[in-house]
Amino acid sequence: MQKITTDRVVIIGAGLAAIYAALNLAPRPVLILSPEPLGKGTSSSRAQGGVAAAMDPKDSPRAHAADTVRAGAGTVDANVAAQVTQAARYHILDLTNLGAPFDRKPGGEYVLSREAAHSFARVVRVKGDQAGVAIMNALIEQVKSTRSIQVMEGVMAARLETFAGSVIGVVVQTSDPAGSAPVMIHGSAYLMAGGGSAALYAKTTNPARICGQVVGMAARAGAEIADAEFVQFHPTAIDVAEDPAPLATEALRGEGAILINRDGSRFMANVHPDGELAPRDVVARAVFAQSQARMRPMLDTRAAIGARITTDFPAVAAACQRHGIDPVRDPIPVVAAAHYHMGGIATDRQGGTTLGNLWVCGEASSTGLHGANRLASNGLLEALVYARICAQDINSTQVSCDAADPVVIDFRSGGDVADAAAIWSLRQTMSDCVGVIRDEAGLRHALRKIQKLAEASQSSDNFQNMCATATLIAAAALKRKESRGAHARSDYTQTSSEACHRQCLTLKQAMEIRDMEMENCR
Ligand code: SIN
Repeated sequence: MQKITTDRVVIIGAGLAAIYAALNLAPRPVLILSPEPLGKGTSSSRAQGGVAAAMDPKDSPRAHAADTVRAGAGTVDANVAAQVTQAARYHILDLTNLGAPFDRKPGGEYVLSREAAHSFARVVRVKGDQAGVAIMNALIEQVKSTRSIQVMEGVMAARLETFAGSVIGVVVQTSDPAGSAPVMIHGSAYLMAGGGSAALYAKTTNPARICGQVVGMAARAGAEIADAEFVQFHPTAIDVAEDPAPLATEALRGEGAILINRDGSRFMANVHPDGELAPRDVVARAVFAQSQARMRPMLDTRAAIGARITTDFPAVAAACQRHGIDPVRDPIPVVAAAHYHMGGIATDRQGGTTLGNLWVCGEASSTGLHGANRLASNGLLEALVYARICAQDINSTQVSCDAADPVVIDFRSGGDVADAAAIWSLRQTMSDCVGVIRDEAGLRHALRKIQKLAEASQSSDNFQNMCATATLIAAAALKRKESRGAHARSDYTQTSSEACHRQCLTLKQAMEIRDMEMENCR
């Protein structure tokens, strides 16, 4: 295999966490591996809500932390919630300095949206639903003028190389459909910031690449994975034939939009005292139940927002227009779709993993902030806070370096690409058996199916990464014999006080759970 050695820190992924970490590492030289042109194909660019931060003088980080802990259903690390919410204001001001065009009032105050389970309007936004793309564009401009950052586009990581419990290299290949022969890069340190796992599901709001690649890669190298069973389903993905499904941001419900079914009945009123602004897991299950009963759940923005939807929520309006829906006149059909993985690579308070020389930030990580149910718009916030923490920790633990030659790779043809039919079968299995409502029989079936699919495609690292993450999610869900937050089991409907803790698994342990369950079934 072709081998390359560089003094650069290798950053796997190119979303918000990756590029903010790169900026915070400057002038230390870094190499960003971006599977697509910078800014394309990331979950960050699709984020509609914004960044949660207590910016209103009447609000406080303490209240934000309390909401985070409450929404997380008993498994949030309160110290992490305090740390992240306290840092939120700094990051909003920093992004503003870096050019993020947040919505402001004439007096300069930030315009703040309300989203579910927040006790205060505290989501800092851009033009209603444009936060993700606008923040990314501002930071990409900064990246272009930062000499220490090299971006390699069209390249993705496939596997980590370890020695004595530390990462010593990353195997990369081109991300085009034909793939390429693998190349080993030996860098000075490694930061994983390549997104979550929601596109492991057939119905998802996430771009196709955000399918557990990063979590699975770390797990295959031996890293511990925390809270794998907790996958968040967004209740108001727009129910149209588009993959990924476009989102109808929760901020619409924050402005008074309601959920109705085909009979015009406002079904959330009987489900939770907070109605449409109940915690996201509660609303997702209610929407899922309506879909299962063929009651056609819909988001009705007509009375609350009316014609303003086209100017104030342009991404939602554009998605509706693409499918012939006029939200000014008609309610928007919605569906629960996999949206965010609360679980991920277990980190310490410095963003370090259980493997040496490997840090992680963003959705691929599990810091303990989100527990069993992430509070809306805490995802981008966590990505920012931990990107900076990782950068500081790398800078303080690595020998100093302020120059490195650019990495040049001459990719050759060859290598294995994942089979599209196998990927679709995996996604369908996850939606059918490891989705909004789970039970033992379905989870066992999923584990068996994932194993078969993995065995049939052993030569594709990318598919093995996906199967590793899928195995971890299903095995952790099988092990958690209770319902908590986004993890709902029809055979264990109660929340157990004895299970009120986080769950860490290695891939080896997840496979042992799978094998034991298969044995029990015989
Ligand atoms: C939304 O805008 O509804 C999604 C925001 C988030 O998932 O944090």
